Amino acid sequence: MEASLTARDRVGIQDFVLLDAHTSETAFLDNLRKRFHENLIYTYIGTLLVSVNPYRELDMYSKKQMDTYMGVNFFELPPHIYALADNVFRTMLSECNNHFILISGESGAGKTEASKKVLQFYAVSCPSTKVLNNVRDRLVLSNPVLEAFGNAKTLKNDNSSRFGKYMDIQFDHQGGAVGGHILSYLLEKSRVVHQNHGERNFHIFYQLVEGGEEDLLRWLGLERNCQNYNYLVQGNCTKVSSINDKNDWKTVRKALSVIDFSEGDTENLFGIIASVLHLGNIKFEADHRGYASLNNNQEMQWVSKLLGIPAQVLQQGLTHRKIEAKTEEVFSPFSVDHAVYARDALAKAIYGRTFNWLVNRINESLANKDSSRKTVIGLLDIYGFEVFNVNSFEQFCINYCNEKLQQLFIELTLKSEQEEYKLEGIEWEPVPYFNNKIICDLVEAKHKGIISLLDEECLRPGEATDLTFLEKMEEKIGGHPHFVTHKLADQKTRKTLERGDFRLLHYAGEVTYCVVGFLDKNNDLLYRNGKEVMRQSKNTIIRLCFPSTEPDSKRRPETVVTQFKSSLVGLTDILLSKEPWYVRCIKPNEAKQPGRFDDVLVRHQVKYLGLMEHLRVRRAGFAYRRKYEIFLQRYKPLCPDTWPNWRGTAAEGVRCLIKYLGYRSDEYKMGRTKIFIRHPKTLFATEDAFQVCKHKLATRIQAKYKGYRVKGDFQKQREAATKIENCWRGLMARKEREKRAWAVKVIKKFIKGFMTRNQPACIDNSEYLAYVRQNYLTRLKENLPKTVLEKDAWLTPPPIMQEASQLLKKIYIRHMVWKYVHGVSVQKKGQVLSFMFLKMCDFTEGEEDISIKVLQLIGPECIKYSVPVVKYDRNGFRPRLRQLIFTLEAAYLVEEAKIKQRIECFPWGSLFHGVSLQYLTPPLFFQGDLVLQCDYLFEALTKLSVIANKQNCIRVVQGSVRFDIQPGREGFVDFKSGQESMVYRAKNGHLMVVSVSRRTSVTN
Ligand SMILES: Nc1ncnc2c1ncn2[C@@H]1O[C@H](COP(=O)(O)OP(=O)(O)OP(=O)(O)O)[C@@H](O)[C@H]1O
Ligand SMILES: [Mg+2]
Repeated sequence: MEASLTARDRVGIQDFVLLDAHTSETAFLDNLRKRFHENLIYTYIGTLLVSVNPYRELDMYSKKQMDTYMGVNFFELPPHIYALADNVFRTMLSECNNHFILISGESGAGKTEASKKVLQFYAVSCPSTKVLNNVRDRLVLSNPVLEAFGNAKTLKNDNSSRFGKYMDIQFDHQGGAVGGHILSYLLEKSRVVHQNHGERNFHIFYQLVEGGEEDLLRWLGLERNCQNYNYLVQGNCTKVSSINDKNDWKTVRKALSVIDFSEGDTENLFGIIASVLHLGNIKFEADHRGYASLNNNQEMQWVSKLLGIPAQVLQQGLTHRKIEAKTEEVFSPFSVDHAVYARDALAKAIYGRTFNWLVNRINESLANKDSSRKTVIGLLDIYGFEVFNVNSFEQFCINYCNEKLQQLFIELTLKSEQEEYKLEGIEWEPVPYFNNKIICDLVEAKHKGIISLLDEECLRPGEATDLTFLEKMEEKIGGHPHFVTHKLADQKTRKTLERGDFRLLHYAGEVTYCVVGFLDKNNDLLYRNGKEVMRQSKNTIIRLCFPSTEPDSKRRPETVVTQFKSSLVGLTDILLSKEPWYVRCIKPNEAKQPGRFDDVLVRHQVKYLGLMEHLRVRRAGFAYRRKYEIFLQRYKPLCPDTWPNWRGTAAEGVRCLIKYLGYRSDEYKMGRTKIFIRHPKTLFATEDAFQVCKHKLATRIQAKYKGYRVKGDFQKQREAATKIENCWRGLMARKEREKRAWAVKVIKKFIKGFMTRNQPACIDNSEYLAYVRQNYLTRLKENLPKTVLEKDAWLTPPPIMQEASQLLKKIYIRHMVWKYVHGVSVQKKGQVLSFMFLKMCDFTEGEEDISIKVLQLIGPECIKYSVPVVKYDRNGFRPRLRQLIFTLEAAYLVEEAKIKQRIECFPWGSLFHGVSLQYLTPPLFFQGDLVLQCDYLFEALTKLSVIANKQNCIRVVQGSVRFDIQPGREGFVDFKSGQESMVYRAKNGHLMVVSVSRRTSVTN
């Protein structure tokens, strides 16, 4: 901490707790003054911040400064409002609870400025997103709008808050500002119609007149001259050097758009502001009976136009009062004075209610729609204690409010703190302090407090006046040490009091109140028809401000001061539910001048603000206390014995923890339920250690967590894999089972088929037989004889395939023969074929075609071969159908049962005297004198050659064959190819054989 300080920072003492002469008011003031002259306006008393108004812009609120203070421990840097704001913020985040900053001090001490600085700090330091930035802008810009409508120049302060403001800033768990809410307290409405000398009306009026765009002013019927408006000139001070109304107007306009005010809203709003100014300019004339009259007044017309109220209605409302008789309503005319009073009442009511509407409208725009958990920091900036030459009802309320806040401060700091020490059994020497409860009671006690007396006087029937109220006070509370009137005062004091005055000795000093107007202002009566007139308005804001649901004035509404008192009770409840932080603002001089430090004025404030007592309690007491459980919970990671869990009581745990941390015995005290730490630095050292440790812990937790997550993932994956595996296995097993069941069925069927294979085809064996067929065919396909010679190697067929097999065999052999024959060359054909057929032709064929008779005739000769032939006559070549039969001895030509010709062949060699062969369909076969045509030429020749045992006697000849018709006479057979095969006798007497294939002749 020391290292970061510059020489200037070291001027004086930054924390009064470290002041040697801590009981000396002079030493206190000296330190404050010394620092003030160095523009060091902030000084701590522990965690309380004392701020002295510098009345000049200081270079200490830059973004850089904000960054410097962000996230740094409270006492590590020079005192600053940012340090306090940051500390509150971080405590809120770490402890997840609600806080408030109570900013107090008299009027002009710098409360509003301090609250703005806090808000700005949060706006910059909080996490930002698009949505959050939007909220942030609205939070920040709600300030200039509310200041324009609720602040005014007073003698004490050029920008004096004339209403109390409590603002909640809502944060999400990450510290993002997500919303806000504003509560406003008792606006000083009387200022709308009256200002003391040197004071102004609310800023917005001047801003509108000075800064308003030409068009707007024209539309509102206003002129750019504040002097023209009665409500603006009473203080005789429309212009203030420190205020730039034109610029402020621009800021307000921009702010309104950011806060989401529609064009309609702004138009209506400025219409109301202008109509108040017009109202103020309405002048009543007395008619001949002395009653107030308005003769089509121009200003009234403007009000009528701007508020959207018919002029007639408005005129009636301003000049008459409605009286309800038993059965009828009567309008009673106002006197001029009454009319002025009613007009002012209306102006105040309009402005006051519009102000409330404005606050509600801003709240709508700040509202956080998210219902998740939020923590809040409240900022209380309320009008400061004020004393004027003439103090009225408003000052009474304002000062009462300040009494209440002082009471709260005392309750929370001096009183409760000291009581706490007692309660916790901590050795303690009580510090005396002034408790202002006596004044609060004087003002607010039931039945005998000033507020009760005032209400009584307002509500009682009969002629109650301000003076009767004064008398009542004298009667009831005359003996109170803090109350005095002209009548009750001693000689000396009496000189300082007027007859209509009463004086209260407030905690902050004496204030003399002029009783005039108390009853009136407390009643705040708006004539009933005034409200009714307003309800007819077309201006939406006015309609909302004067709802038709509002109860009628038959039942008196709560008086102003009672309402105010209730709202303060509500405020106290709000504050008591939160952790307090304090900023005590001090005004260095009355002249609002920079660099001037008025000792008397400051000493007075130091006194009444109770700063000395606070310091003494802080000094003697303890800067920090926390319940053992909370302290242990937060810091237990710092000690191995208490981390992660302490088994004993929280107090023992804390004792063990601080022993480990090495706390000295004078640095702390153990109470009954809490630990008390004397100096902040002890706590900060602990907090620093925790911050370091936190990161290490976070890394460990993170690692563990990651491990846990990964393990979890792995287990999940493993489970998933097992599941998939199981499913897959199940599926496969089911498939296998189905397959087996199918196989069993098939096998069963097969066996049954096998067993019934010889039965006629039925359902049981049909498949089996089909299988046998297919199987045989398949096997046959693979085992077919490769050559004609292997014809006996034919696969043995199953019984059902016998027939088919024979057919197939026949076809196949024929096919093979055909193939073979086609593959043999012409030259080899004779040799090969004869050889082949020699092998094959050991069969007797054609016997079944021979008639029985012929068989009987030639039977003994053993028929070797028979074939049907066509025999051609040798002379005319007429064809005759004959059967050619070979036996071992002869060849026969048979016609049916008749042997036509027997040719002796034994020995068979003589037969081959001339056998020729010709490829022809039908082929021809010659023997001596015979000309025969045979369909089975090769077969017949082969058979013949086998029977004759002369395998090489066949010759193939081409062209033409000669033969003997008779011995010595020869005939010819000619061969040629043509379109169609035919045999006929040619013109040359030859037998002509025409074939379609290539012609080849064979001869021997
Ligand atoms: N920190 C500051 N730096 C510069 N000027 C300041 C500071 N605080 C206050 N002032 C000046 O003092 C003036 C009065 O301050 P402010 O309005 O905050 O007083 P207040 O305590 O709110 O008074 P009131 O009770 O009347 O509202 C400001 O307008 C500003 O000029
Ligand atoms: Mg203020």
